[in-house]
Amino acid sequence: MPPSPPKPVRYEDRVAWFQQARFGLFMHWGLYSMPAQYEWIRSTAKIPDEEYRRYAERFDPDKFDPRVWARLAREAGMKYFVITTKHHEGFCLWDTKFTKFKVTNTPAKRDLLRPVVDAFRAEGLRVGLYYSLQDWDHPQYPIDVFHPLRDREDAAELNKKRDIRKYAAFMRDQVTELLTNYGPIDILWFDFSYPGRSYKGFPGKGRDAWESRKLLDLVHELSPDTLVNDRLDLPGEGDFMTVEQKQLDEPPRGGPQAISSSCLARCWENCHTFSGAWSYNRDESSWKSQKLCLQMLIQAVARGGNYILNVGPTSRGEFDPRATDRLRVYADWMNYNARSIHGCGAAPEAFPEPHKCLYTYNAKTNRLYLHILDWPYVTLRCPALGRHVAYAQFLHDGSEVRFSENGPGEQTDPTSPPGGLTFYLPDVQPGNILVPTIEIFLK
Ligand code: GLC
Repeated sequence: MPPSPPKPVRYEDRVAWFQQARFGLFMHWGLYSMPAQYEWIRSTAKIPDEEYRRYAERFDPDKFDPRVWARLAREAGMKYFVITTKHHEGFCLWDTKFTKFKVTNTPAKRDLLRPVVDAFRAEGLRVGLYYSLQDWDHPQYPIDVFHPLRDREDAAELNKKRDIRKYAAFMRDQVTELLTNYGPIDILWFDFSYPGRSYKGFPGKGRDAWESRKLLDLVHELSPDTLVNDRLDLPGEGDFMTVEQKQLDEPPRGGPQAISSSCLARCWENCHTFSGAWSYNRDESSWKSQKLCLQMLIQAVARGGNYILNVGPTSRGEFDPRATDRLRVYADWMNYNARSIHGCGAAPEAFPEPHKCLYTYNAKTNRLYLHILDWPYVTLRCPALGRHVAYAQFLHDGSEVRFSENGPGEQTDPTSPPGGLTFYLPDVQPGNILVPTIEIFLK
């Protein structure tokens, strides 16, 4: 592979906003919101083309008002969003010149991407576009392990008429359209590569199939500031690493995209759903609890990452009330605790987290945030913090939290190890706050 061309703008400058933002909204919205199960349904249920058209013929989001979505996201403390312009099913949410399988050819009759982009920009959020590398609709897209037609007897025969190079050129055309017609795009989120997954002799797809190098060069040329994720199967590429549906105890280390030996210095983004699917799923009941939702945000930031949380709007164009409820939980919490998230990252390694707590840290203000996941009763012991703390207060009400240092010679609590610090807390968890946070002014 030829070496990467030099990035026009310094990496640290390009990602600065992203590292400040920390919290984003993901949206998976397409025809799959109509079967309302799973965005992969066209593949998993092996739905033939003609049959899948029944959704395109009836897609009519009459309740669609992206200003409502954008307001909810802003109030939740989200600073950017990423929406599926095209998912694996191949359906395009914008008025693309390059396929007929698009929103303007449904009863919606209009480009739905533009109002989304405008509404979120108006609320001050950065714009991210998800673009699927897979495409189960494109006539030139070779059938493979995930393709809905993979088990048809004539699949190999059909593949003879399909030319991946034409498909790769189509992707470049579409990406050009997205980058030029929708104003500055802050993030391009490609999904995904699977070069090793062959099936019945049909090869998987990765950088050769997608012509990833060319695609990425095109993005850099058209829009040098756009951040690109790490799913193009290009070793050494990717402005941020994607970590999907996992909560990390440690920041991701190494990884093919590491830009420095210390992974703490590079960006990663933790993407999560509220429940199982990325698309609207009517019958899914495994929704994460309110507290777990908050914990996952805090934990990603505590490990130096971003957290992007997904909503799958319904086919009528609304957020599922279960999602809205949880977004409001974030709004309530972020109303008081946003400064423990935005601009924050992992705490200095010298300060190990106390039991059942998470730390986030703002290096600019030198404030440490202690998030208490499980109320510990009247004392909370923090290893190694002794002598480092000037003042502490709860974030939700600005009330002082008293403490004493337990360094050698000034031991006030015989059970606490030297060098630590003990916070004195009320017997019961205060007020209406799901995860109380202590703001610690370090010396
Ligand atoms: C996985 C899913 C896909 C989803 C993506 C988001 O790749 O298969 O449907 O869009 O994750 O990270």
